[in-house]
Amino acid sequence: MTVHFIGAGPGAADLITLRGRDLIAASPVCLYAGSLIPEGVLAHCPPDARIVNTAPLSLDAIIEEIRAAHEAGQDVARLHSGDLSVWSAMGEQVRRLKALGIPYDVTPGVPSFAAAAATLGAELTLPGLVQSVVLTRTTGRASPMPEGENLAAFAATGAVLAIHLSVHVLAKVVADLTPHYGADCPVAVVWRASWPDERVVRATLATLDAAISGEMERTALILVGRSLGQAEFGESRLYAADYDRRYRPVGTTPRFPGT
Ligand SMILES: C[S@@+](CC[C@H](N)C(=O)[O-])C[C@H]1O[C@@H](n2cnc3c(N)ncnc32)[C@H](O)[C@@H]1O
Repeated sequence: MTVHFIGAGPGAADLITLRGRDLIAASPVCLYAGSLIPEGVLAHCPPDARIVNTAPLSLDAIIEEIRAAHEAGQDVARLHSGDLSVWSAMGEQVRRLKALGIPYDVTPGVPSFAAAAATLGAELTLPGLVQSVVLTRTTGRASPMPEGENLAAFAATGAVLAIHLSVHVLAKVVADLTPHYGADCPVAVVWRASWPDERVVRATLATLDAAISGEMERTALILVGRSLGQAEFGESRLYAADYDRRYRPVGTTPRFPGT
């Protein structure tokens, strides 16, 4: 018996790995983390599977579900939105499973920042402009930010920030970032990337407030950084005609002769 932690992706039912889909189909128990897991993903469960929404459960109750499946010798598909490496609460479940001697494995998923960038049709790292992406959030009731991990500190690097779990404090995010990026810095807010009701607002830090209308739902990502705009940027040296590389030797004395 194994607990399969599976990244269920950002929303669209077909944005899940084949491995994840097959593990769901082979597991008699499926525990899924609330409304961010699309019904299309749950449709991969076997017809007689025990399917439990864990959103209203405590950690103790979730582990009890897993323990019962373990005793019955039944594999568990444990689904979380996006990828499991960020804000999935997998860590605390794994700690309990290790203590109980229950085996587990992990199948990655498409993270929401990647889905949001795809919606924007954007490469976040552009040569000569931005070469780092910071996945971050602001303080929440359930998880305060460790000292030193704050927007101003990350903004000082000039990296693109992919700010999760923070659309409800958008005005503060803009106020914190504007002194570092400048009021003309491009910003995009993507609600429910890859869902049928996905919504996108593109603006600058100065114009974002006016550009956003209607109620702010929770499931949104804020992307801020120079590569989100039409700014000038260079081309990668990788594809430059005179760039001597292993798979495309150039010149009379190539760096990787005969490879
Ligand atoms: C608890 S975190 C889960 C993150 C997830 N593990 C991932 O890989 O993206 C939930 C936050 O992720 C972001 N998020 C998740 N799915 C999203 C989507 N489809 N579109 C935009 N943001 C999303 C939002 O900021 C939301 O508040």
